[in-house]
Amino acid sequence: MTIDLAALPRDFLWGTATSAYQIEGAVAEDGRSPSIWDTFSHTPGKIAGGDHGDVACDHYHRWREDIGLMNRLGVNAYRMSVAWPRVVPGGDGPVNPKGLDFYDQLVDGLLESGITPSVTLYHWDLPQALQDRGGWPERETAEHFAGYASAVAERLGDRVTHWATLNEPLCSAWIGHLEGAMAPGLTDLTAAVRASYHLLLGHGLAVRAIRAAAPRAKIGIVNNLSTVRPATDHPEDVAAARRMDGHTNRWWLDPVHGRGFPADMREVYGVELPEKHDDSATIAAPLDWLGLNYYFPATVADDPDGPVPHARSVRRDGVQRTAMDWEVDPSGIETLLLRLTDEYGARRLYVTENGSAYPDVVRPDGSVDDPERQAYLTGHLAACASAARQGAPLAGYFAWSLLDNFEWAYGYDKRFGLVHVDYRTQARTIKGAGRHYAEIVRRHREGVARAA
Ligand code: FCB
Repeated sequence: MTIDLAALPRDFLWGTATSAYQIEGAVAEDGRSPSIWDTFSHTPGKIAGGDHGDVACDHYHRWREDIGLMNRLGVNAYRMSVAWPRVVPGGDGPVNPKGLDFYDQLVDGLLESGITPSVTLYHWDLPQALQDRGGWPERETAEHFAGYASAVAERLGDRVTHWATLNEPLCSAWIGHLEGAMAPGLTDLTAAVRASYHLLLGHGLAVRAIRAAAPRAKIGIVNNLSTVRPATDHPEDVAAARRMDGHTNRWWLDPVHGRGFPADMREVYGVELPEKHDDSATIAAPLDWLGLNYYFPATVADDPDGPVPHARSVRRDGVQRTAMDWEVDPSGIETLLLRLTDEYGARRLYVTENGSAYPDVVRPDGSVDDPERQAYLTGHLAACASAARQGAPLAGYFAWSLLDNFEWAYGYDKRFGLVHVDYRTQARTIKGAGRHYAEIVRRHREGVARAA
């Protein structure tokens, strides 16, 4: 399979992505307070293998080495997140300068290596202190998020221009408050719907705060979207697919685009939103870009007695799957990039995450051979380039992930890295897919140079 690299812009961002809790470790250093993920991961039974992020990839101490890995991959961008509990340990109130110092040095190190930092402010690590006061179901959490955003933008905004407010608010709200499989581990529809509302309100308030502190900022939001197809063409399944599309995609996209929260889904949830005058304009604050995280498609059937949105996932036979049991379908990324372009009028798009887990092993000669991950990468990049060819304003791609890391409820067992991590020794080994990615980046760059 070939990737139509000429369809991608000359200044395309070729990046890798990580998030704070998944790689940093050092959870009690330099004034960091516990987050909801520290609490959740230390709650027995919540995480496979009893794993937690106390040490993770020890990136807090090894970040120089990790920038060295990015240099070896030849990438020119890095998507990272800032840990709120390092910067504002109480959730609101005093800023911890030492927490900001860490990101300050990291940003300088990236820039010295010619790597553009793309900073996400919230990748799920809410300070536990705010959870103790009610967390995202409460409006004050959205307000405190804006305060924290402004502290980070004030410190880094002279050098960082790429900003994202939230990563995958769907997971925070639905998986964290409805399904209970992620922090804070609630199973409460009212709390989940209120959390979804305040996450998007917090997003809008943070956009305003970042713009005030960093006038050059280019700001976006990162959603994990999915293509949803009905299991059959029976009207019940078609309607179920429509509900799942609302739950997964429209609920998160429509309000941010000034269309309000979808009426059909309000009815499905049957929970009153904590709306106040002016909120809808705040939530729809103009954005510079949209981020798409894409992993797999969904096939759903009607499930009237199941939990909202009364649609159950159907496992399709005869399709390739990753170690997560996620179906491999590159066409989904193309469909979604075009949907964001056509239906939501996106002016700039980034694939902010895309990648695959496989059970990698380091061979006696020290290499990690991962042909399936290489095929996943090629297939999805080819689909991205095809979307760009058809007019999607795609400006960058961030492979998930730079490193194997703490994969939330799955612990360390699921490896998504372009670089293998031996958690016993913290040794890093570039996998075959890392070399493959480096080669794609190099070819694109050569094409650009030839065309100049
Ligand atoms: C996404 C998360 C990211 C990572 C990948 C596999 O949902 O944003 O942190 O866990 O999935």
